[in-house]
Amino acid sequence: MSDIMQQLEQLRQDAQDSLALAQTSEATRDWHAEFLGRKGRLTGILRGLGSLPAEERSQVGKSANEVKLVLEAALEERQAAIARAEMEAAQRAEAVDVTLPGRKLTVGMLHPITMTLREIYAIFGSLGFQVYDTPEVETDDLNFQLLNMPPGHPARDMWDTFYTTTPDVILRTHTSPGQIRVMREYAPEPIRAILPGKVYRYEQVTARSESMFYQVEGLAVGRHITFTDLKGVFVSLANQIYGPGRRLRFRKSYFPFTEPSVEVDVDCVMCKGAGCPICKYTGWLEISGGGMVHPIVLQNGGYDPAEFTGFAFGMGPDRVTMLKHGIDDIRYFYSNDVRFLERIG
Ligand code: FA5
Repeated sequence: MSDIMQQLEQLRQDAQDSLALAQTSEATRDWHAEFLGRKGRLTGILRGLGSLPAEERSQVGKSANEVKLVLEAALEERQAAIARAEMEAAQRAEAVDVTLPGRKLTVGMLHPITMTLREIYAIFGSLGFQVYDTPEVETDDLNFQLLNMPPGHPARDMWDTFYTTTPDVILRTHTSPGQIRVMREYAPEPIRAILPGKVYRYEQVTARSESMFYQVEGLAVGRHITFTDLKGVFVSLANQIYGPGRRLRFRKSYFPFTEPSVEVDVDCVMCKGAGCPICKYTGWLEISGGGMVHPIVLQNGGYDPAEFTGFAFGMGPDRVTMLKHGIDDIRYFYSNDVRFLERIG
């Protein structure tokens, strides 16, 4: 009797010590199997009951039952504690720290040249010019011949381009063919339009020259358009785009499609005319070519040159943007380097 009672007591102690060490639900299941399960230690002890005299048997049976109840209660308590701890750990692991600073979304921006173009549209919009879209793929006719450059004309060399496999279909070298297109659409109505877009040149790429760049063509046609109108437009443009108080210079030049022709310079935005590396120490920066529309071009556009006159110009927004932001290499615009674009933004 005392032997089996001792075993029960030992079992209770071992079980309680072992239960205190169980840290997981799985460990409590193992514990239950070891002490209270069908093949556990308590069952093993009870198996010896049969060999005891009847009076002792009920005594031992009662004690065994008490041990079982005590252990089952302890197990329940332990399991509840473990479940609580496990839930708290899971909550900690999944917790959202609302005090963490948010992640910044990178927001894109317009390309620097697009920004300049929009500025140019707004300035010309205020002068009554509309934006007119023209194609980048052109015919030899429109890019050269109708602009007073027949085959073999020496000026074609200045505007060499990329050719397609279709004869006479080329990438335009300037936005000037758009002059013919807009005139043919509107003749004999008066015109005030700007024609922006990409142009292509077969030429050496350098810090100042790309083989693909933007131009904005301007065209005004009417009955009383004079050279002073062209000058007035440039004064307005220069002061709005580079700031008030700009000085302008008109140099004589040559374009087959304008007569007379000029190059328009503005006093250097960097040194204000004193001379610096940007203006090559001349104090002036070229901003556009232009002139009075050649009578042959007016005629090709459907206007009678005896009745109508007009002015036209072609400027390069790439170079305008370079000057505005102090960019020393045109190739940055098309190399997709985010560091460059962020610096401009
Ligand atoms: C022309 O393209 C004429 N069609 C302009 C014109 C129009 C004159 C209407 C008269 C009447 P030019 O080749 O100079 O001209 O180009 C005009 C502008 O485009 C230049 O002032 C310059 O700002 C820009 N440009 C020319 N070549 C390049 C190049 N390779 N890379 C970047 N910009 C250029």
